[in-house]
Amino acid sequence: MTTRAPKGAVDVLPPESGRWRRLLRAFDSLAERYGYGLALTPVFEATELFSRGVGEETEIVSKQMYTFTDKAGRSLTLRPEATASVVRAYLQEGRSGVLKCAYSGPMFRYEQPQAGRRRQFHQVGVEYLGEPSPDADVEVVEVGYRLLQEAGIREVVVLLNSLGDPADRADYRTRLRSYLEERAEALSAESRRRLATNPLRVLDSKEDASVVAGAPATLDHLGAAAATHFAAVRCGLERRSIPYEIAPRLVRGLDYYNRTVFEYQASSYTAAQGALGGGGRYDPLAELLGGPPTPGVGLAMGVDRIVGAMPEVSGREDRGVFVVVADPERREEALDLVAALRTGGLAADSDLGDRSVKAQFRAAARRGVTVVAVVGAEWARGLVTVRDMATGEEEAVPIGEVAAWTQAR
Ligand code: HAM
Repeated sequence: MTTRAPKGAVDVLPPESGRWRRLLRAFDSLAERYGYGLALTPVFEATELFSRGVGEETEIVSKQMYTFTDKAGRSLTLRPEATASVVRAYLQEGRSGVLKCAYSGPMFRYEQPQAGRRRQFHQVGVEYLGEPSPDADVEVVEVGYRLLQEAGIREVVVLLNSLGDPADRADYRTRLRSYLEERAEALSAESRRRLATNPLRVLDSKEDASVVAGAPATLDHLGAAAATHFAAVRCGLERRSIPYEIAPRLVRGLDYYNRTVFEYQASSYTAAQGALGGGGRYDPLAELLGGPPTPGVGLAMGVDRIVGAMPEVSGREDRGVFVVVADPERREEALDLVAALRTGGLAADSDLGDRSVKAQFRAAARRGVTVVAVVGAEWARGLVTVRDMATGEEEAVPIGEVAAWTQAR
C-alpha cells in the first residue's frame, strides 16, 4: 500500500477539479472588479500572531493549531486563517490608509474531519483595511454574496449581527455570563467550561440550544455609534438587494471582531455542515498586533464547502478542440495545428500515444470538448474534418478555419 494523504486532507484531480478552477477564476475576476489587489502571505507564521490576533481562548488557538518548533527553536504555526497575516503584513510594511487585498490558499485547523470540515481546507477572502465606513462592510458582504451567485448556489441568505464596539462587547459579555451562570446547572460540561473562559462560545453550543435561545442579544446592548453603523450596513445591503436575516446569537469563533459580523447560509448546505463563508469588522485587530489603530473589515469563503454545494453544470465543460490524428504520417502537422490553435487562444489538445482513431475519439468525448478536428487524407487538399460533438454535424473546412468554426459553436 502506498502512503495515503494525511487524515483530513484531500487530493483534487481532474475532472472534479474543473469546479475548483471555475470557482477560483470567478473569485479572481470578482476581486479584481471590486478593486482588491492580490496579497500573498506565508503559510506559516510566528505562533504568537494567532494567539494575540485570533485570541488565546478561541477554539482555533486553544485546540486546532498545527504548531511546530523550527530548527532554530522558533515556535511556528501553519496558518488557521489569513486575516491576522494580512494585517501583520500591512503593519510590518508601515502602510497607512486604505489597502484592499484578496487572497486564496490553504488553511490548517486540527479538527475532527467530517462533512464540510477538513484539516487542510482552501479559503478565498478579501480584507479592506483603513476604512471605517459601513459602506466597506456592505461591499465586503456583497463580494461573498456575488461569488456564491456566480457559483450557481441559490437561496443564499446572509446572517447578520453586530457585536458593538469593544466596550459594548465587554458589557454584553458580563450580562451573558450572569445569565448563563444562573442556568449553569442546565448547561453541558463543555459549556460550563467555556462559561469560565469565553462565555460567547457557549452561544455556539448545539446541546444547549434551549438555554441559548433565551440569552441576551448583542443588538440590545449596542452603543450609539455602533447602532448607527449597523443601521447603515442594513440600509446598504437593502440597496444592493442582498437578502439578510438578523442572527442575534451570531458571534463567530474569532476574538478580533467588533460591530458587523456575518455568515452565508444556503438552503443546499445545511447549518449543521457549517457556513459557506463569513467575516466581519475587526477594528481592534491592528492594535492587538501592536500596531496603530487601523479599521478593517473582511471575509473568507470556504472553497471546499462551496464546491461541494455547486450544482452540476449542464452542457460542456471544456469548450475546446481535440485534434484526432487519423493519418499517422500527418502527426507532426497535427501537432502544429494544436499549437496554432493554442497560440490563437483556444483550448486545444491531442493524444500523443499513437492510439487508434476510435480511442482518440473516446478521449475527446471524456474531455467534453466542443469540436473534434480530424487530420487525415483531406489534409493534402488543405482541409480538416471538424465535428460538433454535441450535434454530430460534420464538415471539411480549410485548416485555417478550424478556430473560427469552433468559436461559432
Ligand atoms: P472562519 O469563519 O473561521 O473565518 O472561516 C471562514 C470559512 O472558512 C468558513 O465559513 C468555512 O466555509 C471555511 N472553513 C473554516 N474551517 C473549515 C474547515 N475545517 N474545513 C472546511 N472549511 C472550513 C475566518 O477564517 C476569518 N479569517 C474570516 C474573516 C476575514 N474575517 C475578517 N476577514
